[in-house]
Amino acid sequence: MSTPELDFETRQIHAGARLDSDFGARMTPVYQSAGFVFDSFADGEARFSGESDRGAYARTDNPTNASVARRLADLDGGAGALLTASGTAAIALTLSALASTGDHVLATASLYEGTKTLFARSLSRQGIEVELIPADSPDDVWRRAFRPTTRAVFTETIPNPKNDVVDLARVAAFAHEHGVPLVVDNTVATPYLCRPIEHGADIVIHSTSKWLSGHGAVLGGVVIDSGTFDWQGSASRFPQIALPNDHGVPSFVERYGQFAFLTYLRTVMALDYGPTLPATSAFLLLQGIETLSLRMDRHVSNALEIAQWLEHQEQVATVDYPGLVASPYYARAQKYLPRGQGAVVTFEFAGGRPAAEVFIDSLRLISRMTHLGDVRTLAIHTASTIHGHLTDAERLSRGITQGTVRLSVGLESVRDLRRDLEQAFAAVEAAGFARPVAAV
Ligand SMILES: Cc1ncc(COP(=O)(O)O)c(C=O)c1O
Repeated sequence: MSTPELDFETRQIHAGARLDSDFGARMTPVYQSAGFVFDSFADGEARFSGESDRGAYARTDNPTNASVARRLADLDGGAGALLTASGTAAIALTLSALASTGDHVLATASLYEGTKTLFARSLSRQGIEVELIPADSPDDVWRRAFRPTTRAVFTETIPNPKNDVVDLARVAAFAHEHGVPLVVDNTVATPYLCRPIEHGADIVIHSTSKWLSGHGAVLGGVVIDSGTFDWQGSASRFPQIALPNDHGVPSFVERYGQFAFLTYLRTVMALDYGPTLPATSAFLLLQGIETLSLRMDRHVSNALEIAQWLEHQEQVATVDYPGLVASPYYARAQKYLPRGQGAVVTFEFAGGRPAAEVFIDSLRLISRMTHLGDVRTLAIHTASTIHGHLTDAERLSRGITQGTVRLSVGLESVRDLRRDLEQAFAAVEAAGFARPVAAV
């Protein structure tokens, strides 16, 4: 079902739905099958050649996954989408599709730490160099960083965990001026709060493990293609997509038009690397998507209230939340995220690590764990976990100190969340770690 005239709240329930023709099941069925039977010799040949749109094998062609992918593409305003086993798989697959050995990718410096590790550890072993520059660098810094081998610009809408919202339109204009696509990880914003394609992004990625699934039960990822990047205009940079292959087979652009990149991603990258999302996970993801707007409204109102409360605590040195009027990203967030500024609230204890340690150990309702976008509120001390492998200097360059705590604000009653925070803050005060202490 194509639904461009319907509102987001309706499309999150109906777009891309696959009705079961045998029994009329209202829910999109879980096609829990590794492969699909050919009607005939000719049907097998047609499925393999791509002449038939009925798939052959679930590594790339599961109908449940295809239905969920259609819904996500619709919600983010893309031409199509591919589900992957995790958000990390979506990023690795996309950048490996765009860049080859000897190529270069420009990325903004404030990013989820796991993505930076992927860049530094594994993409570098493939010979792909990812260079990080602060998103708000002056134009000449961006221009100097661009190389003849640059194949993509990568950023996050609301970077995790610092919430330093990116000026998407500016970064998109830079990428297009240089003939490369802008790839945006939109995980923290979700398509309900921001649709980067409307601001110039060419490819959008989500870790669907977070708010899209919403219940902390399944991992997943998605790559959404806007279908609008001019691959032919940059054919020398992307011969794998825009030029015929060595055997004279016409290019993906010639064969698939606006679906060129997505078809390359599915029929070459996903087929060869196999990062498939299980159909049962796609089904659970779909359940989450259908209530996304309702949950996000509550996530962001809870997050704003918690951020405002934290802002007034003497024990807190800084709060990073772009919905706060005092945030340097407030005006930009109003432009790109008018419905709400996400549900990650990062703050810093003036009392450093000892204060953070007492706080984390005192929590009763809020869960001590890594992850984002759960219905439950989660807290983590990032310097000893996510950022634990870094030196103090590397952490500081990311704005992370020993006092930094990240909250993923859930859907509980905000009064109950406040009570849990209040009692944990009282424990910090009682332990004498409310103010800066030596050597933290
Ligand atoms: C912004 C962002 N992108 C990508 C990922 C990776 O997603 P996954 O855990 O599904 O691999 C995460 C995980 O925390 C994230 O926060």
